[in-house]
Amino acid sequence: YRNLRVALLGAGSVGAQVASLLLEHGDELANRAGAGLELVGVAVRDLDAPRTANIPRELLTTDAESLILGADIVIELMGGLEPARTYILQALTSGADVITGNKALLATHGPELFELAEQVGAQLYYEAAVAGAIPIIRPLRDSLAGDRIKRILGIVNGTTNFILDRMDTAGESLEVALATATELGYAEKSDPSADIEGFDAAQKTAILASLAFHTTVPLDAVYREGITAITIEQVDAARKAGYVIKLLAICERMTDADGVEGVSARVYPALVPRSHPLAAVHGAKNAVFIEAEAAGDLMFYGAGAGGIETASAVLGDLVSAARRHVIGGPGVAESTHANLPILPISRVITRY
Ligand code: NDP
Ligand code: HSE
Repeated sequence: YRNLRVALLGAGSVGAQVASLLLEHGDELANRAGAGLELVGVAVRDLDAPRTANIPRELLTTDAESLILGADIVIELMGGLEPARTYILQALTSGADVITGNKALLATHGPELFELAEQVGAQLYYEAAVAGAIPIIRPLRDSLAGDRIKRILGIVNGTTNFILDRMDTAGESLEVALATATELGYAEKSDPSADIEGFDAAQKTAILASLAFHTTVPLDAVYREGITAITIEQVDAARKAGYVIKLLAICERMTDADGVEGVSARVYPALVPRSHPLAAVHGAKNAVFIEAEAAGDLMFYGAGAGGIETASAVLGDLVSAARRHVIGGPGVAESTHANLPILPISRVITRY
């Protein structure tokens, strides 16, 4: 079948895991996608920097622009606004589909990127941009498109949840817990204040609110407070009163005094009753609690940060993008289901 050329920009916490999983499971993913997935190169800044996974030296390059030119699918995992924005614009212009986990870029330049993608008939995938491994973009955009969402309450930043959890369960300081979160690959290395000052959560909130309410919620319309003012004493007092402090992202349909319907999007540390499902979200886990008019309450839970966990979402987008190349539409490549092996009976789980 057809071979698709995949260019990866960035080989840090997430990118290195994407490269490694793609090299290891490429044949299996190709069967699911109905197309070969050839990793043609990995753009980095420093060819000699240590990596969390083995990437063949000959795949590494510092020439991102040449790599983009020959690619069918470009995966951007560099982070930051520039040169990521320019590279994605170049990739879309050259007709490639693009996959990104870059919420900072989407929350700031999303309309420009999506407009260009539409103009040139390319797709921009971003499941990894909100809540790491948790599938939340497609459920909001597709599965819930027939419902009316009333409110979203989310823990959408793994680093701050990890820090608040360590303060609560181990009495650790914010600084010590942040250092561990950085070491574990959760924190934004280029700018740790992105996490603790709530910027990262605000970017994700803008994306969630835009999807949930079928509108464009600009980043500067999101109210934001981070966790830097939270003290161990406050965390202790909350616990004694039956609460836990969580950095919440809240997106809500609201009607103002004149009866005009609008959207409120905000991020701040909030007291969550210990009995609420969001109180049980520990470590770098994330959860998105959705209140919908017809569906009722839904909760999406899982790893909100971390290299290999986030790589799962990126590779899901890669299979979707490849299927689109095969069948020329956004849906699932039906032809790929014809060749699935039948599981032997002993491997079918009948009891839980
Ligand atoms: P890292 O900082 O760990 O990695 C960034 C990578 O991009 C590095 O390999 C770096 O190269 C490369 N890079 C940076 N600038 C350039 C440039 N100008 N040219 C070429 N290569 C460049 O980031 P993460 O992997 O943590 O995150 C990547 C993206 O994914 C970000 O947008 C982040 O917000 C998002 N994300 C991260 C998650 C996480 O848990 N870490 C979860 C969900 C999304 P070099 O190694 O040589 O320095
Ligand atoms: N720094 C981010 C977090 C990475 O801690 O949630 C995942 O988007």
